[in-house]
This record gives sequence, structure tokens and C-alpha cells, in this order.
Amino acid sequence: MTDDSRRGSLEAIREPVRKECADLEGYFRTYLKTDVSVIDRIFEHLLDGGGKRFRPLLVLLIASFREQPLDEDVFRLAVSVEFIHTATLLHDDVVDQSDLRRGNRVAYRLWGAEPSVLSGDYLYSRAFSLLVEIGHLGILESLSSATTSMARGEVLQLLRSFSTATSREEYLEVIEGKTASLISASCVSAGYLAGFNGDRIEALRGFGTNLGFSFQIVDDILDYSADLGELGKAIGKDFLEGKVTLPVILLIEELKAEERRRVADIFLKSSPDPEDFQWVLSRMKDRDILDKAMDAANRYAEQAQDSLSALPEGAVRESLVDLARYVTRRRK
Ligand code: IPE
Ligand code: IPE
Ligand code: MG
Ligand code: MG
Repeated sequence: MTDDSRRGSLEAIREPVRKECADLEGYFRTYLKTDVSVIDRIFEHLLDGGGKRFRPLLVLLIASFREQPLDEDVFRLAVSVEFIHTATLLHDDVVDQSDLRRGNRVAYRLWGAEPSVLSGDYLYSRAFSLLVEIGHLGILESLSSATTSMARGEVLQLLRSFSTATSREEYLEVIEGKTASLISASCVSAGYLAGFNGDRIEALRGFGTNLGFSFQIVDDILDYSADLGELGKAIGKDFLEGKVTLPVILLIEELKAEERRRVADIFLKSSPDPEDFQWVLSRMKDRDILDKAMDAANRYAEQAQDSLSALPEGAVRESLVDLARYVTRRRK
């Protein structure tokens, strides 16, 4: 990798916490180990598939603002946020009836929906027991309110499926809940462990929320545009599930009444045809919809970067700035 292509890569962003990122993989296993092998196997399956470890990376970087070396509480937090994330993936894949996750078959297709959902519950519970061990009420408050928002966001999304009347505001409400809340709570909680309070905690909240908006908008764009091999998830899934994401909302805003009705009809079909998908994709292409959605993702990423000015200068802040840029450039 050349210096230029490395700059801004996740590998370069991890640099200030390279050793801790490597240690994290061992902590996942130590903190999960159960006496029920199916839980361990399902979790191992997800760990083996890779995953960006985006939320624990935020924790490790932000906690590094403090003077002292990172202690076990930081790892407890980093592991907890990945456990919560993994639990939501296990549940989400059942709800979305997905086939692929991190390039592998989804857990519920291998072990069944019941073990998959229940192992997700176990991971959730284990995350909160680790958070109790940290013993910081602000962290518990932040992450428990995030998980409540996540569940709310997923339910709202389900209720709004197939409805092309979904507004931008309603879409943003869903993604704030299902995605931005955990990313923001990861940042805020790590800020507490860095010894921050007041304005710096608020800056981290704003950073995480805007980063989360950008992250999910890009996920929704990739669902229409990614390379399957690179993404490790199926393309066109949101469309098949009737999820009305930002690209669809922007498209509908630009269409004339007749074509608008056709999109509404397509979304109401229980199983749209591949030609329907191609038709929607070509309308999106004609109107540069994915670029417009990317403009929105860029705006959130810029707002995220702006919040960082309240934090101490240095290599850690630089990595967070690069992380906000990475989110809109990622292909997986
Ligand atoms: C996937 O999250 C779910 C969303 C919130 C879009 P990630 O894109 O962080 O998934 P992994 O952990 O890297 O697989
Ligand atoms: C993210 O939404 C939901 C979670 C917070 C788990 P998606 O349903 O778009 O996530 P992917 O695309 O399946 O990873
Ligand atoms: Mg999904
Ligand atoms: Mg998605």
C-alpha cells in the first residue's frame, strides 16, 4: 500500500491504538466465553467474518485522550458496544431475512432463528453486565438509552416498510434510533472514561450522532451501488424488503406523478421483480440520486468533524477527523 492510499484507511486511522485494537480480539473471547457452545459458535462465526469494529475503535480512540494508559474498563466498554452491535445484527438479520453477513452465511440460516435470536439476547445481557462492572452511571444511562432507541428505530422502520409516503424526517428518525444512537453513546461513554464532562461530552454526542447519520446513509447508498464481494452483504436487499431509505425518498421527490405512482406500486408488491429493481436503479441514475444522497452523507460527516474542534488537538483527534472522512468513502 502506498503512503497516499494508506492515508485515511481504517488501518491508518487505528494507528494511535494499534496495539489495543489487536488486544481487543482476545478480550471479545475472554468476556464472552460461556458454557453453552452454540452461543460461542455463533459469536465466533460473526467474529471470523471480520467486521470493521467501528464502534470499539471509537471507544479506544476517544478513551486515549486521557493521560493514563488504557485500563480494563476501556476494554469492557469497547467489548460491550461491539456485543450490543453484534446482538442487533443477529436480530436484524432474522427480521430482514438476510442471507449474507460479513461475507458469510448469516447465523440464523446455519443454526436457526431461535438460537440466533436468543444468542443475541445473551450478548445484550453480557454487554450490560460488563457495563455494570465499570460502575459509571453516566455510561449505563447513555448505553441503556441507546439500546432503547435502537429497538424503537427498528420497530418504526418495520411499521414504515413499503410506504413510499415516508418523509425524510421519518427516515432520519429511524436511522437516528437504529444506528446513530449506539455510535453516539459509544463516543459519549468513552468520553466519560477519558475524564471529560460538560462541553466536551456534548461535542462527542454531536460528533457521534452526525457520524452515525452519515454511516447509515452510506449503508443505504451501498445497498443500491456496492460490489457484493466487497460489501459482504447482498445488494438490493433494502429494496426487496420494502425499506424506504434516503435514495428512494430523494427519487420520489424528483419524479412526476405517474412515475411516482409506479414506485409506490412497486414498493407495495410482496415480491418485486428484478426488472422493477432495474427500473428504479435507472431512474436513480438519470437523476444522480446516489450522488445527492452522498451529498447528504457528506454534510453530516462535515458536521461531525466540526464538533471535534472542542477536543484536544493531536494524533487522536486527527484519527477521528479521518474516521469522519472514511465513513463517506467506505465501500464496505
Ligand atoms: C452494519 O454495521 C449495520 C449498520 C448499522 C449499517 P457495520 O457496517 O458496522 O457492520 P460490521 O460490524 O462492519 O460488519
Ligand atoms: C442497520 O440497518 C440495523 C442495525 C442497527 C442492526 P440495516 O438493516 O441496513 O443493516 P444491514 O444493511 O443489514 O447491515
Ligand atoms: Mg439488515
Ligand atoms: Mg443496510
